[in-house]
Amino acid sequence: MIQVKSAAEIAKMIKAGELAARALEHAGKNARAGISTWELDRLVNEFIVSHGGHCPCKGYGGFPGHNCYSVNEELIHAIPSKKKILKEGDIVSCDIVAELNGYMGDNTKTFRIGKVSEDKERLLQATESALYKGIEQAVKGNRIGDIGYAIDSTVSGAGYFVVKQYIGHGIGKEMHEDPEVPNFGKKGRGPRLVPGMTIAIEPMVNESTENVRLLRDNWTVVEANGKMSAHFEHTVLITDDKPLILTLTSH
Ligand code: MF3
Ligand code: CO
Repeated sequence: MIQVKSAAEIAKMIKAGELAARALEHAGKNARAGISTWELDRLVNEFIVSHGGHCPCKGYGGFPGHNCYSVNEELIHAIPSKKKILKEGDIVSCDIVAELNGYMGDNTKTFRIGKVSEDKERLLQATESALYKGIEQAVKGNRIGDIGYAIDSTVSGAGYFVVKQYIGHGIGKEMHEDPEVPNFGKKGRGPRLVPGMTIAIEPMVNESTENVRLLRDNWTVVEANGKMSAHFEHTVLITDDKPLILTLTSH
């Protein structure tokens, strides 16, 4: 069932979203050549906890980290590791969920470590712009399919591939609520968007194929051909007017 949040719940979602966004910003500031993804995760968790929140991904389905840090061909759900040291030219997708006073914010950015190749730069720009094209469609009266259609056309127009096996989601008290928010779809299809709905829109994009592979750790999802992948995400509120991005560092 798709929930419509009350004004009181929305106030809490705004706070949770802001914390998630600040934590993601903190991840970005610390994502430098030489740091391990384990240390990055430790710093982000410390930041969230010191602001009164916690990391609901820890232990979710047995996930061992506090959040996910996926490097280069890793698309999503990579486990923080002391052995994984970021280096110049890498890209790292930091997918950060924060829970505060019972509500959650979920956001992701793929950060560049120093200067990255032209190819990586283009992939990141296409993925981020697909996120904003999707958000533009998150208005009352539209349907979920309008968001996915906008994302997929932007991504395929740039010559890349939307991953279909993993999708965005409603979010609130739970990390994953209805509706499902695929990064593909047909205009005018799917559940109708209503003010008060809160959804995580999150294009996951591969360089050379829509296919992915699950690594032996049973978590890390990688580009099937070992090429690059990118991921950008915001938690968004449907309003009577323009969509409100909840995962911003200030409101
Ligand atoms: N942040 C992810 C999402 O958007 C969830 C991570 S999976 C977990 O759905 F196991 F780490 F929680
Ligand atoms: Co999400």
